Amino acid sequence: MCGIVGYIGDKEALPILIDGLKKLEYRGYDSAGIAIIGKDLTVVKTQGRISDLEKKLSTEEIQGTIGIGHTRWATHGIPNDINAHPHFSESKNIVVVHNGIIENYIEIKKMLIKEGKVFRSETDTEVIPYLIEEFYEGDLLKAVNKATDLLEGSYAIAVMSKNERDRFIVVRKDSPLVLGVGDHENFVASDIPALLQYTKDIIILENGDIADIHKDSYTIYDRDLKPIRRNIQRIDWKIEDAQKGGFKHFMLKEIFEEPNVIKEAMRGRIKGDSIEIPELKLTKEELSSINQVYFVACGTAYHAGLVGRYLVEKYLKIPSTAEVASEFRYRDPVIDKHTLLFVVSQSGETADTLAALRLGKAKGAKTIGIVNVVGSSVSREVDNVIYIHAGPEIAVASTKAYVAQVEVIALIVLYMAKILGCLETEEEKHLAKEFNALYDRANNIIQRCGEIADFVSTTKNIEETFYIGRNLDFALSLEGALKLKEISYIHAEGYPAGELKHGPLALITPNSLVIAINTYKPLREKTLSNIKEVKARGGKVLAIAEEGNSNIEEVADRVFYVPKTRDDLAPIVNIIPLQLIAYYMAETRGLDIDKPRNLAKSVTVE
Ligand code: M6R
Repeated sequence: MCGIVGYIGDKEALPILIDGLKKLEYRGYDSAGIAIIGKDLTVVKTQGRISDLEKKLSTEEIQGTIGIGHTRWATHGIPNDINAHPHFSESKNIVVVHNGIIENYIEIKKMLIKEGKVFRSETDTEVIPYLIEEFYEGDLLKAVNKATDLLEGSYAIAVMSKNERDRFIVVRKDSPLVLGVGDHENFVASDIPALLQYTKDIIILENGDIADIHKDSYTIYDRDLKPIRRNIQRIDWKIEDAQKGGFKHFMLKEIFEEPNVIKEAMRGRIKGDSIEIPELKLTKEELSSINQVYFVACGTAYHAGLVGRYLVEKYLKIPSTAEVASEFRYRDPVIDKHTLLFVVSQSGETADTLAALRLGKAKGAKTIGIVNVVGSSVSREVDNVIYIHAGPEIAVASTKAYVAQVEVIALIVLYMAKILGCLETEEEKHLAKEFNALYDRANNIIQRCGEIADFVSTTKNIEETFYIGRNLDFALSLEGALKLKEISYIHAEGYPAGELKHGPLALITPNSLVIAINTYKPLREKTLSNIKEVKARGGKVLAIAEEGNSNIEEVADRVFYVPKTRDDLAPIVNIIPLQLIAYYMAETRGLDIDKPRNLAKSVTVE
């Protein structure tokens, strides 16, 4: 996720671009840059935040009434000045900003290098201006259209050429882009908040739209360059609300982003019927030599590792364990070169996780990082980093990162199983189909968030909460409980459902709420019996069950149905109702959901 802005009109472009980028900083903040056409085409960019860009700009005088800007969330190439956008074409006549991922950039780059082109950055984006220049014959619109025909992946791009000073071109495919219509001026941005100060007349561009923007006019075309009509919408949001996309909190916004996060995490990894992890460096021989697999992480990332542990045992038939990094780092784990250590971290900066990684490496383990923040410490120190591409997560409570972590871990384990010959082609085909179905299933759950809010409104007297489940549902119950305690401050514990009668059942009273996760098909009946034990002690039960499993209604007080999903992948979507329960519990209590007391987003100290 990155942020794009563009301006053309009578005013100086620079302050408008900077102001727009500040409003989009929640979309990415590892580097920023602008390009303005005045006397010349000038690009200024830097690693860091918009404030760092402003400092750099304070020593320059840049004038011009047309420009584009970018705030970056790195996906390819670490955050540094060179990888920051905008990117020039080879001759420096054309300049581009981009949000998204170009899946086939390596192929294109190789082709252009063969022709003698020299690239400057490590980004996927840079192939775009180079390609546009290849096709340029005096009309930027035509050149952009031809170049984007060759691109696979997702993109919102804005393009300017110093040979055509009265226009810029934008295109969108699977990444958002909106047009702001003004009086003798027009704007473009990744999101509405960047424009609201200047205009409330907004056009939401659709997939495949290519727009030619001038000061006094704009034309939107389809990919055959036939003009098309898009309606102008009058947007009356307040700027602060708009930054959260109209959501009350970033946490809710991030939960609602999860269907797209699911799609992005599998981009380039589910290809037709095939599961691929192009970034995986381990060879078949190296994989065959692995005799134990660890997942080390903290908090939510640790819970994602727990899911991984089940999958490794099932598909790779290798002993596996998930460990809390703060414990692991002070033990003397038996590790050698036959150990594979997965290090899971959203931020890539968690102190305990880094220490666990260093211990594992020192003992000779092979290390794979499952990381969100590109260029973070974990990503630099592991042997092999595989990014989850969840985009910036602003709320302290991790939601969309968990979804992407579990998904990417599942993809890696299944791909390893394929390399090792433990995954039949038919099964791989079925799994690929199931991955592709996750987007709709996640959407289905999110669209029914009202059911959860309604249930939560009946839980005012609840004093403590237990989350129970078996197997993968147990892994979910730990994450559900963590989410609830960290943002609602209600005491919550996750237990294996079968453990209840070994102690926790003594705590169940009519003021206890039990969230029973009963989606794991092989153990459905067993969990049902545990729910009956709770009901017999007067506890209130909300069951999370699969569509069709309606006999659970006879036992539980309420049931939230999730779409049928293959068990191995079910945690990716079945966590969503648990995240929503935590959210609405905190919301009805009027708490500071995005910044819960005593907690920080990134725990860089012990
Ligand atoms: O950045 P990391 O994934 O390494 O962070 C690990 C934990 O600190 C983090 O998941 C924490 O538990 C969250 N607040 C949970 O919502």
